[in-house]
Amino acid sequence: MLSSPLFLSLASVFTLLGLALVSIAISTDNWTEVQVNRREIINAFKREPELSLRLQNAFGHNIIYFSRNYGLFHTCFPDTVPQEIGSFSKFSSPCIWNNEFNPPEAKKDHFSTPEWYRLYAYRSSIICYGAGIIVVVLSLITGILGCWNRSKKLIITTAVLLLIASLAMCLAMMGWHYVAYSERYLLDMEPYYKSWESVLKITSRHNYGWSYIVSWIGIAFLMLGSIFMFWAYVAVKREEEMALSAKHGAYLMPNYYDKGAGAIVPYGYGTYAGYGTYPYYNQYNTAGYYGYMTYGR
Ligand SMILES: *[C@@H]1O[C@H](CO)[C@@H](O)[C@H](O)[C@H]1NC(C)=O
Repeated sequence: MLSSPLFLSLASVFTLLGLALVSIAISTDNWTEVQVNRREIINAFKREPELSLRLQNAFGHNIIYFSRNYGLFHTCFPDTVPQEIGSFSKFSSPCIWNNEFNPPEAKKDHFSTPEWYRLYAYRSSIICYGAGIIVVVLSLITGILGCWNRSKKLIITTAVLLLIASLAMCLAMMGWHYVAYSERYLLDMEPYYKSWESVLKITSRHNYGWSYIVSWIGIAFLMLGSIFMFWAYVAVKREEEMALSAKHGAYLMPNYYDKGAGAIVPYGYGTYAGYGTYPYYNQYNTAGYYGYMTYGR
């Protein structure tokens, strides 16, 4: 039968791995990757000098003309960096802040309804993700105390906290997907897809990056941690009940043997509680004793 220590250790392994993975996901910038084939755009410029004149400035400065990777907070450039963009180095690649959480007032004054929805979705997804991580850290504390004391209450609390955290992170992922969806299909202003020049639409390729995948794996691990914690709770409960009934069994035993001995020994010798068979021998001995006496006479 599977025991509570196994479930508790599986729960802690999955929870720690899950926490590590979501932390990696939130701090890296490969959620979405956009590859821009700049050489192809230059070829188009050569074919159409008019296009070249119109887009030359944007081609050197606007980030949508550069290959880039998006994280939750940063945009990074794996190949070429736009001129004078004020990038800093993160993990040895040039990045800029998205500045999406709190856009400048001047920008917000002209926000359309879909832009507001996008902003709300972005903010809620960051808040849900952060809250999820905080709750996982809390659950580590209750989990350690719960293992230490073998406390059923703390173990079930840990399981519930982990479940809440992973659900909050699922919500965060849904918010993130809404942001990506509205950027692609709803918003038709700069710098979103619908406003792009057709040459840019043709030469850009979107992909989900590994940070995004790592985030989902981390959330799945946290859910597994929660499930194993629930099973640990069930196992601890069952083991406690078994220990309790074993104790009761011990108290009942003398009674049982009394009855048994009474049944075996008709002379009422069954007073040696623990030694079930002893009165039985005694019976023979006494019989022998009387027999000897009779014989001797
Ligand atoms: C992840 O993003 C960084 C920063 O843009 C980039 O240098 C790196 O090549 C990307 N990694 C992968 C596997 O795409």
